[in-house]
Amino acid sequence: MSLSECRVINLSKIASEKGNLTFIEANKHIPFEIRRIYYLYDVPGGETRGGHAHKCLQQFFIAASGSFDVVLDDGMGKKRFHLNRSYYGLYVPEMMWRELDNFSSGSVCLVLVSEHYDEKDYIRDYEDFKRSVSLSRS
Ligand code: TYD
Repeated sequence: MSLSECRVINLSKIASEKGNLTFIEANKHIPFEIRRIYYLYDVPGGETRGGHAHKCLQQFFIAASGSFDVVLDDGMGKKRFHLNRSYYGLYVPEMMWRELDNFSSGSVCLVLVSEHYDEKDYIRDYEDFKRSVSLSRS
């Protein structure tokens, strides 16, 4: 997968004086079926999350509250995305090294995932990731 396949997706915002509402439908607003949801919260200032890639699963990251950055690396280059609104998110396909940092105080990182949790889907060593990328490109 290349960085060009990673993209920020704008979601609808139903605004009213009673507050805002945003919705996501699988295979419509994001290009996969949702099998899992997890969220990061109470992340200490200056902390970094991620530091791995996934062999198969796809993800969609949303700053449900506050803000944070996602740095994506396809083995050829890196790109930093700043997420700071609840009505857009970042689509990340498989085989993308990611690091999350710059969490604002009280932020909530909501993640929609295409697969159930499976530690075997992780690549946690950056050199292993680089090797897998170069093998798939040769
Ligand atoms: P990890 O994916 O490494 O977190 P991050 O990328 O946010 O830094 O997961 C941290 C720990 O939580 C690890 O022991 C695996 C476990 N975990 C689950 O059990 N289920 C899940 O759905 C997720 C995302 C993680």
